[in-house]
Amino acid sequence: MSSFSSADESAHYAFSVRVLLQQYREQLGWAHEGVVEFGTGDATAIADVVAGLPGLRVHSVDISQPSVGKARENIAARGVADRYTVELGDFFHDADSAATPPVATVIANPPYLPAPDRDILMPELWGGVYGNDLVLQLLKAGYRNVITAVPSYADPETTVRTAGDLGYRVANFLAMGLDYGPYSSEPKVRDHIRRLCAEGRGWAGKDEYMVAVVLFTQDPDIPGDRALQLLRALQL
Ligand SMILES: C[S@@+](CC[C@H](N)C(=O)[O-])C[C@H]1O[C@@H](n2cnc3c(N)ncnc32)[C@H](O)[C@@H]1O
Repeated sequence: MSSFSSADESAHYAFSVRVLLQQYREQLGWAHEGVVEFGTGDATAIADVVAGLPGLRVHSVDISQPSVGKARENIAARGVADRYTVELGDFFHDADSAATPPVATVIANPPYLPAPDRDILMPELWGGVYGNDLVLQLLKAGYRNVITAVPSYADPETTVRTAGDLGYRVANFLAMGLDYGPYSSEPKVRDHIRRLCAEGRGWAGKDEYMVAVVLFTQDPDIPGDRALQLLRALQL
């Protein structure tokens, strides 16, 4: 088992998190209480964000032992170990400090591969049959702000509708087209994505999809609702 590796996906996640944290700095209050992260991977993405935003503290949890080992090395190499900490465990069950608010904001590029079961190239990336199980779980975890990747092929309409039912609005998002990487190109995953899209549970091209990093918020001080724009941006 190796750690997650997808350079363009991680770069989009990191860039988007940085822009959203800067844009909503006051309302998110991260300079006082930090943020938590679900799924560290090898940590290179968010380590650079931490390095570029003095005052940002991130406590991250990953379920994969090799990822945590690699992440700690990368964080140390970038000199941000005092502000970016990593814990091994299941974010929703084992984490000491992560899964329990009072921290108001969680960030995540969560597992979102849809497949009939978790017997895929990297089982930790399985997002359930529709791909959005972990995003939905994150939305139900009690954070006021959830910054998360939402891919076009993992039933985004249900994700956005469920978020609305839980009192979240889409404050803003950054969307980008991505080519299928090694994980979504696996025939079992690719065929399943094709079926889901044919059923109307998402959108994908032959070799590409869209992903948006979205700020869902329940905070009345953050205005607006861009849910419709988000769903339009995810269509191919
Ligand atoms: C798509 S990768 C993202 C990694 C990194 N944030 C990035 O963008 O490069 C998702 C990560 O979530 C981790 N993960 C999966 N289920 C988890 C769980 N229940 N608790 C904590 N981490 C989990 C996986 O091991 C994987 O490293």
